[in-house]
Amino acid sequence: MKDAHIRFESAPEKAAGRVAKMRASAVRNLFAATQRPDVISLSGGCPDVSLLPKTAVRKAARAAAEAQAVTLQYGGTNGLMECAEVFCSIMRDSGIRHKPENIIITGGAQEALDLLGKTFLDPGDIIITEGPTYLGAIQAFSAYEPDMRPIPFDEEGMRMDLLEEELQRIGKGNPRLKFLYTIPNFQNPGGVTMSPERRKRLLELSHEYDFIVVEDDPYGRLRYEGGHLLPLRAMDEDVIYLGTISKIFSPGLRVGWIAASPGVVGKVNLMKQGTDLCNSMFDQYMAAYYFKETAWQHTLRKFIKVYDKRRRAMLDALEEHFPPEASWTHPEGGLFIWVTLPPYIDTGSMLAEALEHGVTYVPGDGCFPDGKTGRNCMRICFSLEPPERIEEAIKRLAEVIEDRMELSRAFIAAGAIEG
Ligand SMILES: Cc1ncc(COP(=O)(O)O)c(C=O)c1O
Repeated sequence: MKDAHIRFESAPEKAAGRVAKMRASAVRNLFAATQRPDVISLSGGCPDVSLLPKTAVRKAARAAAEAQAVTLQYGGTNGLMECAEVFCSIMRDSGIRHKPENIIITGGAQEALDLLGKTFLDPGDIIITEGPTYLGAIQAFSAYEPDMRPIPFDEEGMRMDLLEEELQRIGKGNPRLKFLYTIPNFQNPGGVTMSPERRKRLLELSHEYDFIVVEDDPYGRLRYEGGHLLPLRAMDEDVIYLGTISKIFSPGLRVGWIAASPGVVGKVNLMKQGTDLCNSMFDQYMAAYYFKETAWQHTLRKFIKVYDKRRRAMLDALEEHFPPEASWTHPEGGLFIWVTLPPYIDTGSMLAEALEHGVTYVPGDGCFPDGKTGRNCMRICFSLEPPERIEEAIKRLAEVIEDRMELSRAFIAAGAIEG
């Protein structure tokens, strides 16, 4: 018994080198704080599941329970065929033609990211992302120890001029360059959308420099203004497309998918066998039922209407309460706004004060692989709170920022920090 205890105590020292390089997710760390009733959370990218019709959910759960011979059993690694068919029809609505055989169902898009890392990355391999990018993608890829190169975006998405410069540095035909990861629609955390011209240019560059494009599209169906843009996958069959039900139905059911060529699906399948054999059949069955048998498009329109109101409330509140030194993005869809504050503000250390004022956000540095860039930025999410609470949260945040700015100005005047 004593030996076992000693072994347990020393186990952390035996952890793989990659563990020391991993950073915890700010959103995961904040999860407990966001449950406090006095806190208004602008941090997690959660859909408002209270908007889901209870009868539809109950029916889907009942149908899954009744099919227990299937749903309480192991399933195939590629997933339930009915689910793949439903996802093909969702993709068809966005302009992607794809066969259900070439889909692999994953535990949310998050597992898909991990599996792509497991399938493609050796330590030191190069991947390109937007900078900032989805912090869960940084976490998933980091475990495979790649060399991540973030490319800044503007209101039209990833800057293609800066991407080209980076690609020139990497060099044509460099075997270490594996893939470029992008969230072209209503990016997380930026809220920005890649323009059609940049989509076209990105695909040209992918062929010129021989890298795979991974398109992660959880928010594409949540558009509040402007017209639908063709996904990259609809423009080029070499693109690996990631979908999820998390933002249009439920993140509690862990269901997402990878749509790719048979070769890629086969290799991912091999990697997934060692991860989890298969996904929850119960979750997949419920998802297939929901998208086949309920008026989900009607519910989606409800989500869009409600989120649009919340987005407008947040943009108005930012305009009214935030200092003129701050700037922010104007998303046409999705869940997020990216705020940039003066360079001397550190949103990481400011979070404790914000929590005292009863409001949370995601500090910007968590969205960069180096954990340093973006210190003066923050991601705020508008999907979960009603407009009055959003305005109150922005007001509280503005007070915290003003206090910080005042303090920093005093330090700058005293020469203690740079302006
Ligand atoms: C861009 C992006 N990719 C993937 C995910 C993970 O989603 P899922 O719940 O499907 O695992 C998220 C979740 O917020 C996301 O924003």
